Amino acid sequence: MTQIPEDVNAQLASKLKATLPSHIFDLLTSAAVQAENQGWQIYLVAGILRDSLLGLDVRDLDISVVGNALQIVEELARSSGFELEVFGQFGTATLKRPGEPDIDLVTARKESYPQPGALPIVEAGDIYDDLARRDFSVNAMAVQFTPGGFGMLLDPHDGIADLRARSIRLLHNQSFRDDPTRIFRAVKFARRLGFSIEKQTLELILQAVRDGALYTVSMDRITREIMLILEEPRADAMLWDLDRFGVLTSIHPLLSWPYEPGKIRSYQDELLTPEERRDTYLAVLGAELGPEPDEADNVAHWLSLPAPQAKLMRDAARLGKLWPQLSEEQSRWRIYNLLRELDVRALEAYARIEALRSDKTAWERLVLFLDTLRHIKPEIGGDYLESLGARPGPIYGEVLEQLLEAKVEGNVPTRADEEKFVREKLTQGE
Ligand code: CTP
Repeated sequence: MTQIPEDVNAQLASKLKATLPSHIFDLLTSAAVQAENQGWQIYLVAGILRDSLLGLDVRDLDISVVGNALQIVEELARSSGFELEVFGQFGTATLKRPGEPDIDLVTARKESYPQPGALPIVEAGDIYDDLARRDFSVNAMAVQFTPGGFGMLLDPHDGIADLRARSIRLLHNQSFRDDPTRIFRAVKFARRLGFSIEKQTLELILQAVRDGALYTVSMDRITREIMLILEEPRADAMLWDLDRFGVLTSIHPLLSWPYEPGKIRSYQDELLTPEERRDTYLAVLGAELGPEPDEADNVAHWLSLPAPQAKLMRDAARLGKLWPQLSEEQSRWRIYNLLRELDVRALEAYARIEALRSDKTAWERLVLFLDTLRHIKPEIGGDYLESLGARPGPIYGEVLEQLLEAKVEGNVPTRADEEKFVREKLTQGE
């Protein structure tokens, strides 16, 4: 990570130019000119500013329009070929194109929370209102993009000082009560950026958790934050923090992460897609429920996980329970039968857990199943039995299952061996 320059304001314009892909920069410039012609201003806000000052890659872009964001964004979508998604009630919209960062535009707004955990009431505001409604000081800076003031930094909450101090600090004391999902965000940014959570902010997290703030938010919103965390390269450390702060047990008493940062990582983490990483950590969370695999269903249901992730978590719990059996002396057919009913994505996710490699025998057997055993299929099937004149019935299933066993064990390598095996079984059965 780079040093924050002494005079941020003087360097911001050139830093942004260097950070943004040139076609995105041009796109925003045309939006800015358009806005200025209407007497409006546009500002780059939040993550892009934080990350470009830290020398990190661009993720998504957030833009606040003091004026009418929807009008600007429609014009941009027409001229750029980006796809437009509009979320009407808050005057927010996203421009998307595969392979490009998302560009989120919002009409600058003021927010108030009718009750803790509820979605906010929104009204139009100026850029200072728009920064004041945000979570942490490092996310509450803006830089003007409109030509008249291009490159001018607004930092009313001392975000630059906190970037230098490498600190995640909440803007106001009610913030975690208003929006408890910010607890997850504090942990996420701190670990992702290698920052610490400022002392009072940490106290407010602990207090909000103690006071049950998490019970005021819908499980969908909580699960969304957890899923975002599981996609992060330092997800293990984030889960550790969530566990330490009492967040995981507040969500469900059986959810836990007893592993210190660095103990449980994904193998070759840097090569994984965010989804593969998410599945790996979800599998570990599931495996923690190994002693009570049926509870994994309850936990997955409680978290309102989509069906594929729920299955993954449940089957990871089952695998966690049968893991010791895999270490014992086992035939290929036993291994096959232990694992055949389980979700392949759960098995793959499990195989990526680096720490399990030290459990060499079990791990090698899991990989044997994934790479080889599960793909084994006899060449002949019911048609062949029929051609021999066998009468359809349970015998078909029995013989074909015995054939599969022989194939998995490597006893019938060729088609001729398979045919001979089946003929003998049918004769024995007569
Ligand atoms: N924000 C907030 N409270 C939330 C969610 C978002 O205050 N619960 C504000 C923050 O200012 C944040 C901005 O909205 O920076 C954009 O949200 P998001 O895209 O989630 O944050 P980024 O900082 O862009 O995070 P990332 O780097 O993960 O994309």
